[in-house]
Amino acid sequence: MSQRVNRQVLLASRPPGIPQAEHFEIVTSPVPELQPGEVLVRNIYLSVEPAMRGWVAAVANYSEPVAIGAVMRSFAAGRIEASRDPALPVGTKVTGLFGWQDYAVVQGTAIERRVEEDDLPLSTSLGVMGINGVTAHFGLLELGQPKAGETVVVSTAAGAVGSCVGQIARIHGCRTVGIAGGPDKRALCVERFGFDAAVDYKTDDFAEQLAKACEGGVDVYYDNTAGAISDAVMAHLNVGARIVVCGTASVASWNPAPQGPRVERHLLVKRARMQGFVIFDHADRYPAARRDLAQWLREGKLVYLEEVLDGIAHAPDAVAGLYRGENLGKRLIRLTDD
Ligand SMILES: NC(=O)c1ccc[n+]([C@@H]2O[C@H](COP(=O)([O-])OP(=O)(O)OC[C@H]3O[C@@H](n4cnc5c(N)ncnc54)[C@H](OP(=O)(O)O)[C@@H]3O)[C@@H](O)[C@H]2O)c1
Repeated sequence: MSQRVNRQVLLASRPPGIPQAEHFEIVTSPVPELQPGEVLVRNIYLSVEPAMRGWVAAVANYSEPVAIGAVMRSFAAGRIEASRDPALPVGTKVTGLFGWQDYAVVQGTAIERRVEEDDLPLSTSLGVMGINGVTAHFGLLELGQPKAGETVVVSTAAGAVGSCVGQIARIHGCRTVGIAGGPDKRALCVERFGFDAAVDYKTDDFAEQLAKACEGGVDVYYDNTAGAISDAVMAHLNVGARIVVCGTASVASWNPAPQGPRVERHLLVKRARMQGFVIFDHADRYPAARRDLAQWLREGKLVYLEEVLDGIAHAPDAVAGLYRGENLGKRLIRLTDD
């Protein structure tokens, strides 16, 4: 085991906002010997999340900041290559917070789950069957409570969470409107993910396009961006609307605090409810969400898109790329063949 070399992406310095390539460094280190109860995971796919901006920020939010010099925190999917935990045999496919590195030595209790859907690609365990899928499922169905015939609007609609939200809403009989950046993503929303309408927020006539797409008003707004996009959606709420605050991709930082129109009058006049959530608080809901997601995937009712970057060298710039809007679908880094 000691001959294995582990390439690791470390957080080299604290970024003032969105982490850029220069805030990380790639080092190599030997893989330590296993202690009783530990397993060695060979990471195959590493996840790239917009939330990583918050994970490396100086100010703790819902999790402690990644320490300078530490391996970058990340979900990963891989196979157990050596085990001193009898419950986790070699060859088991697993996911967990294994970090941006080739190998992770973890306690068996740190395994988030065994991946048992052998008919689905392992990569999906980080996207549509992973945090993105369960976030979309929980946020939309539990907090958004969509009813058939209602209009559901989603921002970052071409992305991993957004594309899933739109399709789950459609499965529940809703009319869906996606908001995404650029003509390619707008087309993707309609042609691949089946949104009834899609609006490009990067055009000068975004407000007019949105008004047209939301003529009957908005019953559920699944908000992944905050900022000017959300300000525009608020003007179209129906009475009793639900606003699910899932992400704040367009809010650059909390310092200085973001400025914008206030929402209180919209909420009051429309008797609307606005609720934020962090999916990690709802881990008890993951299995039921995954059962639905797997079923819809197998039935062809749910489609997904992945953007796979080959090689760990892509990791340092990968989060910045999400904020440049480069990704078409769930962004992953592949380290080795599945
Ligand atoms: N609450 C939770 O527990 C939870 C869990 C998972 C994810 N999330 C949130 O869900 C959202 C989507 O995550 P994801 O993993 O599915 O990522 P994603 O949508 O696949 O990728 C991020 C997308 O954000 C958009 N974006 C980046 N900067 C933006 C800006 N300034 N204004 C508007 N849009 C911008 C880009 O799309 P365009 O090219 O269309 O702009 C980019 O492709 C994120 O906000 C994430 O933090 C929340």
